[in-house]
Amino acid sequence: MRTAILELLKKNSDQYISGENISQLLKVSRTAVWKHIRALKQAGYEIEAHPRLGYVFRQMTERLLPGEIKAHLTSSVLGREVHYFSEIDSTNNAAKKLAADGCPEGTIVVAEEQLTGRGRLARGWYSPFGKGIWLSVVLRPPFAPMEAAKCTLMAAVGINRAINAVTGAGCGIKWPNDILCKDRKVVGILTEMSAEMDAINYVVIGIGVNVNMEEQDFPEEIAATATSLAMAAGCRIPRMKLLTAILAELENVYSTVKTSGFAPILAEWKNQSVTLGQQVAVNGIDRNFTGLAVDIDADGALLIKTPQGIERVLAGDVSI
Ligand code: BTN
Repeated sequence: MRTAILELLKKNSDQYISGENISQLLKVSRTAVWKHIRALKQAGYEIEAHPRLGYVFRQMTERLLPGEIKAHLTSSVLGREVHYFSEIDSTNNAAKKLAADGCPEGTIVVAEEQLTGRGRLARGWYSPFGKGIWLSVVLRPPFAPMEAAKCTLMAAVGINRAINAVTGAGCGIKWPNDILCKDRKVVGILTEMSAEMDAINYVVIGIGVNVNMEEQDFPEEIAATATSLAMAAGCRIPRMKLLTAILAELENVYSTVKTSGFAPILAEWKNQSVTLGQQVAVNGIDRNFTGLAVDIDADGALLIKTPQGIERVLAGDVSI
């Protein structure tokens, strides 16, 4: 009923419709109409109420509500099941539970705010209300567990495509999975997986995009290294458009990997890379060193030229 009322208001957005009229058209009591409109306003839709004239639709909600996501979706698998939270500990935690309980591939978890958003290497991820895209996508890739790192690289390529298409901000990929804009981080990706010896049960790709934060929104610890797409592009970015573009491009790169293998995506990753050709400092799992980032191999490992020869880095962090 709520959706029907919303549709009716949207269709008549150039005029007021009385509560009486809505109740007759949709065969529902006036109290119910009033309650649904109150709920729609709470969900962020701007609906003006006039004591004599009735109601008029003014503006769409800014929230990433499931009904709106479904209405704007252009992907066919990614986003076919949407779990939405106004606030949550971490969308990755929720997605892992859903995946373990057998949810279909392509299920997504979206939140307006994460209270304990998680980053790589046991770091946190700052996720304030309504300012970013805090999203987890469940995949069930037919890859060997050893190949799971490819999911992160594939995701970085898809997200970078979507961001550049929607914002024109000119972002690039920093190994292994950050997206930078003007040398500052705008996107982080946290891939988590459950696997048997020879098969992946599921992969959860957790994506954090700093969309509409202003300089003063960032906590001091990350203020010098993080930025938002709005800051980079100089204008507010519509989160819904970006979210659905990310899902569409993620679906495209995933389908390319499944049909044509990883090579085309790897080539695109190299093309979009801001790491290759740079002198980097590697903070590896068990050692730190510096060298020239010369290439990335078929497994997604970064190859660093040092005086001792080529070093291969599969996990860890690099600073440029
Ligand atoms: C990183 O760069 O360290 C990765 C950050 C990943 C953040 C995203 S936000 C959505 C999802 N849920 C989480 O708790 N983390 C990821």
